[in-house]
Amino acid sequence: MSIIYNNINNTFTLQTKHSSYQLKIVDLGYVLHTYYGNTIYGDDMSYLIQMANRCFSGNPYECSLDRCFSLDTLPQEYSCFGTGDYRIHSIQTINQDGSYASDLRYSSHKIYAGKYHLEGLPSMYADKDTAADTLELTLKDKSTGLTVVLYYGVFEDLDIITRAAKIVNNSNAPIKLTKASSLCIDFNEMNMDMITFYGRHAMERLMQRTPIHHGIQSVGSLRGTSSHHYNPFVIFCDHAATEESGNCYGFSLLYSGNFLAAAEADQINNTRFVMGINPDQFCFQLNAQECFFTPEVALSYSSEGLGALSQNFHKAYRNNLCRGKYKKARRPVLINNWEATFFDFTGDQLVNIAKDAAELGIELFVMDDGWFGDRNDDFRGLGDWVVNEEKLQGSLKELVDKINALGMKFGIWVEPEMVNENSDLYRKHPDWALQIPGRLPNLSRHQLVLDFSRKEVRDYIYDSICKVLESAPIEYVKWDMNRNLADVWSAALPTDRQGEVFHRYVLGLYEVLEKITNRFPDILFEGCSGGGGRFDAGMLYYFPQSWCSDDTDAIERLEIQYGTSYGYPVSSVGSHVSVSPNQQTGRETSLDTRGTVAMSGTFGYELDISKMTPEEKEIVKQQIKHFKKYYFLIQDGSYYRISNPGENNDYAAWQFVSQDRSSSLVNIVTLHARANAPFMHIKLKGLDPEKQYRINESKETYSGAALIYGGYPVPYEKLTNDYQSLQLCLSEA
Ligand code: GLA
Repeated sequence: MSIIYNNINNTFTLQTKHSSYQLKIVDLGYVLHTYYGNTIYGDDMSYLIQMANRCFSGNPYECSLDRCFSLDTLPQEYSCFGTGDYRIHSIQTINQDGSYASDLRYSSHKIYAGKYHLEGLPSMYADKDTAADTLELTLKDKSTGLTVVLYYGVFEDLDIITRAAKIVNNSNAPIKLTKASSLCIDFNEMNMDMITFYGRHAMERLMQRTPIHHGIQSVGSLRGTSSHHYNPFVIFCDHAATEESGNCYGFSLLYSGNFLAAAEADQINNTRFVMGINPDQFCFQLNAQECFFTPEVALSYSSEGLGALSQNFHKAYRNNLCRGKYKKARRPVLINNWEATFFDFTGDQLVNIAKDAAELGIELFVMDDGWFGDRNDDFRGLGDWVVNEEKLQGSLKELVDKINALGMKFGIWVEPEMVNENSDLYRKHPDWALQIPGRLPNLSRHQLVLDFSRKEVRDYIYDSICKVLESAPIEYVKWDMNRNLADVWSAALPTDRQGEVFHRYVLGLYEVLEKITNRFPDILFEGCSGGGGRFDAGMLYYFPQSWCSDDTDAIERLEIQYGTSYGYPVSSVGSHVSVSPNQQTGRETSLDTRGTVAMSGTFGYELDISKMTPEEKEIVKQQIKHFKKYYFLIQDGSYYRISNPGENNDYAAWQFVSQDRSSSLVNIVTLHARANAPFMHIKLKGLDPEKQYRINESKETYSGAALIYGGYPVPYEKLTNDYQSLQLCLSEA
């Protein structure tokens, strides 16, 4: 059992292989957080907590003459609002009497083998290979009846702890929930950096590292999706932490809507971190006895730097968050017609692209946007999920049969959450779109968002998408979402419940995704939101991969994929070879380099293959063979970042190492070639120091120790220009 309750000290210690997390019930029933970090062996860590009489930090009434016990300075496990803790709160309610305060104290607890489950929300799961234990800690507010159950899932082998909360209105009248965080954690210091991932459309998840400072520092989204702009993944680490050393804490929210991740360094230099649903425009009514589940947060700690922290999340998400057939099965190499044709295609043209692709060994053809309704540009058609047989020159089944006859699987693009005003669906049901009566809606790509909080909307969309997927043997779906939410108001909810729409939208989406992925267990689903606008751990529960960015420029992708790698496994990164010069940046890169970069993802092509020269086609053939050979090393191996392409102007490098450390693939891309360039040595990682390796089948062998500590001298003549690439394949001699 990885959860130890000490009934003398009243401590709960959660143990993973390399970390311990502890909380303690203290006088008056308050639950304090005493520790999270490197393994401790059952010690009561509350000796670290100091108390002093501080003016303007009040005391609970029952403290009587003790002026040192203050909620305002003590480390809390789930901080309340309005009862004397003035730092960021985890929960806020508007109670029956109109007051906003809550005061949660220990009531009971349960410890059991297995992992709790959150109905209707994504959450990590235990299975026969990976065990987990659960602690449920029930807290109560005596005066309002508010009950909060804090859930802790402990994945000992994965070095992961998950947290979530159930909030129950145990009173006899409705209350409003205006903040419901998933996680609150207090550190007794502020000498740390906070790492966040920011960006924009076509440049997602860039890393930003700043020292924690006094006041509140936060990232979040109010866009209805997790967003291109800030990712719901945050790291705290020592100022000196590197890829290989230092204390690091990762916090990853399994949620795809509005979120807030906020850190506050307080008056006594402690740091609180709170993460969960964004409280802006969040006001959820809980009737008597109703309950609310917060999304889950996955936490991990590493004393061995950022590299090991990332690997913890990679492993956990690959094996205990992603589900379905393609969690383990090799995913097909695909070709997508978007950047080759955009909206301008016919069925015959698609078959021609597929013919060329099949000859090169590509296994899946994906028909992107433009195959349905009146959708010949991005001003119309969304919502009308009826095949445009005129454009396809026949039925969908006929087209798929032709593609299948080439020995290829067939995949399709959909954008089910959206509607254009110029569509039959909107003409019939204008109230199905989110918009505020009496106000002109904000348009984005000329589309509106369907109100997924409404059952009839979800049912209609589910049925129409199922109809398409059942009409032909479709084996892949790209589920897109190409705008953010605005004018959020639902015609189906009363005026005083509009603060529920954002969250109900996400719950509605999750319900549809759960149903559709269960109904089509053999389909490979890929998430997308204008590239990586909804690239989060919540979506990974339903779709094992997500289109990482609309920016397909290999050099830009180095930075995007580098940032993404901090919190997400390579197996989740949708990545394709596109045409050169690149359509977004005009940059020219070799096919080799584009292949090297796209291979550090799910791998595919997105260009007009018929325009390729015979030499280029030969390179594509070889790339596919090479990718297939190294597929499991890339997808299941350990991922190491060797250099940061945002900081290092000379080259980007990263490495995969198989679990048994018998093989490895090192990838190097030059960024800025120099005349009379200095020599480059790259220190490899993750190898077995005692094993001997051959590099690209070389006669000579090198020990792992030599390559790790001495490094590998990059052949001078191989990388003399900008944007060249080199892959080193290491195998045990
Ligand atoms: C989004 C996606 C693209 C493509 C288009 C189609 O931008 O990210 O890959 O599917 O939509 O409209």
